[in-house]
Amino acid sequence: MMSKSSALYIHIPFCHNICTYCDFKKFIYNQKMVDEYFESLFLEANKLNNKKYHTIYIGGGTPSSIDRHNLESLLTFCQNHLNNKNFEFTIECNVEDVNEDLLILFRKYSINRLSIGVQTFNEKFIKFCNRKHNKKMAIDNINLASKYFKNVSIDLIYAFPTQTINELADDLKIAMTLPIVHISYYSLLIEDNTILKNNGYQNVSDDVQTKMYKRIYKTLKNNGFHRYEISNFAKYKKYESKHNKTYWQNKHYDAIGLGASGYIDNQRYTNTINLTKYLKHDFSNSSTVDLTLDDKLFEEIMLGLRLDEGINIKKLEKKYHFIFKEKYRNALLNGYKYHLINKKNGFIKTTFKGSLLLNSLLVFFLEC
Ligand SMILES: C[S@@+](CC[C@H](N)C(=O)[O-])C[C@H]1O[C@@H](n2cnc3c(N)ncnc32)[C@H](O)[C@@H]1O
Ligand code: SF4
Repeated sequence: MMSKSSALYIHIPFCHNICTYCDFKKFIYNQKMVDEYFESLFLEANKLNNKKYHTIYIGGGTPSSIDRHNLESLLTFCQNHLNNKNFEFTIECNVEDVNEDLLILFRKYSINRLSIGVQTFNEKFIKFCNRKHNKKMAIDNINLASKYFKNVSIDLIYAFPTQTINELADDLKIAMTLPIVHISYYSLLIEDNTILKNNGYQNVSDDVQTKMYKRIYKTLKNNGFHRYEISNFAKYKKYESKHNKTYWQNKHYDAIGLGASGYIDNQRYTNTINLTKYLKHDFSNSSTVDLTLDDKLFEEIMLGLRLDEGINIKKLEKKYHFIFKEKYRNALLNGYKYHLINKKNGFIKTTFKGSLLLNSLLVFFLEC
């Protein structure tokens, strides 16, 4: 175990307040629990031995909300597990946590990429999400972050119930004035067991989502952001997230922390999602899935088609010893017929239409 990956994900499941749409594994911040969590986390981390990583990603929850003592211990640990060149070290921050002291601390410990959760600059939708920033704070703090970091990404959400195209355009207009080099732009998903779902909200229609997505794609493209994954846009290739590409390129990665998922030796595992167990140093997995050949192939396709670079057919055939066009004959025929995919330089990629209809396209592959 824990040998083949060059990426490490670390989950920090605490937040000072709970957003109405969020179904991620997280708990309201409690210092005693945080202290115990970090004790457990470092014990679990022993399984990594002295391995060095090319990318480390601290996600949550809200890692930027953690007290200074525990945060510094975690950053020291990460610094000791980075390989010594070209690493990418990302931490997720909520925009209201960004301040000069925190940015200086991040730099001191070699963080070189910030992923800042903003979601929206619109005061009405900020309240709808139960986020704690406001438009001015978001703009000021992103500007501040860029004084310390070149590689600043923001997370935005579109397709809020009642959101108009003009309101979306306002968010885009502000984002395009900011010194950021990467944007993750997600459509709002009303998930089970969230405040929004419990209050009866529903996802906006597919038509509205598509119209908004097209507007986002066009605006970002016109402002120098290329799409490299369905929801991810970077200003230059060097700012594409190396860590997240590990997932999309179906490479191995390690993961520690409550509910964190990793992929090693063709096995996907998810750590226990029971906080009480985790705090008692019980690190047994909540699930491990041994992937069959068909599972692995479908995952390669599902993830590869999310990427604009697409799927490298020769590489895949070599890895799994099969002939792509024989196994996926029908999917390819349908994909070409409906203009959902094309083939270029040995890569199968989605057309723009295909990227909008990805789920239907995947069904063709699933049926092969
Ligand atoms: C789970 S959060 C963790 C980072 C940080 N706590 C924050 O809120 O910014 C990661 C990102 O997932 C996205 N996200 C979470 N739930 C979502 C949902 N139901 N629909 C769309 N995006 C969602 C948000 O953009 C968020 O920034
Ligand atoms: S979106 Fe982020 S801050 Fe909000 S509850 Fe989820 S993890 Fe916490």
